[in-house]
Amino acid sequence: MSQKISVLFVCLGNICRSPTAHGVFRHMVREAGLEQHFEIDSCGTYAGHAGEPPHLETQDVSRRRGILIDDLRARQLNKQDFERFQYIVAMDRKNLRTLNEHRGDSPAKIFLLRDHDIERDEPSVPDPYYVGGFEGVFDICYRSCEALLAHLIEEHELPRN
Ligand code: 4NP
Repeated sequence: MSQKISVLFVCLGNICRSPTAHGVFRHMVREAGLEQHFEIDSCGTYAGHAGEPPHLETQDVSRRRGILIDDLRARQLNKQDFERFQYIVAMDRKNLRTLNEHRGDSPAKIFLLRDHDIERDEPSVPDPYYVGGFEGVFDICYRSCEALLAHLIEEHELPRN
C-alpha cells in the first residue's frame, strides 16, 4: 500500500464539532474495513481546551448513536499539520479562513465539511458550544462524513465492501 490518506478535522475548541466528525469518520472507515488506508485526527484553532476530552453532551450524543469518542483529546492546530495532512476539513467559515491564513505553501486540500453535505442549508456546522443543537451537529457530521468517505474511496480507488 502506498502512503496513507490523511484527514484532519478542524474547529475552534476541538471539543464539540471536530471530535464528532473525527469519531464518525473513524467509525465509518473501520466499518468499511479501510483502517489501514487512513490517518485521521482533529484539532482546534484555539488552545483553550487542549488536553480535554470532548464536551459531555457531544460524547453523549455520539454514544447514543453507537459511536464512542471518549478516547479523543483536544489539541491545537500546529504548523506541522499543514505538511502532515493531505485533507484538512474545516467545520465553519471562520476555521477555513484561519487555515488559509496559516497554510503558507502547503499542498493540502483545505475545504468545508459541509461541501460534502447533500442537505446543506448553510456552509458552516453551527457551533453547539454557543447555540446548542448537539443532535443536529451529529447528523450534519454523519451525512457529510459518509459523502466525504465515498468521495475519497473513489478518488483513491480503494476497495468497497
Ligand atoms: P467547537 O466548540 O469548536 O465545536 O469545539 C467550541 C468549544 C469551546 C469554545 C469555542 C467553541 N470556547 O471558546 O471555549
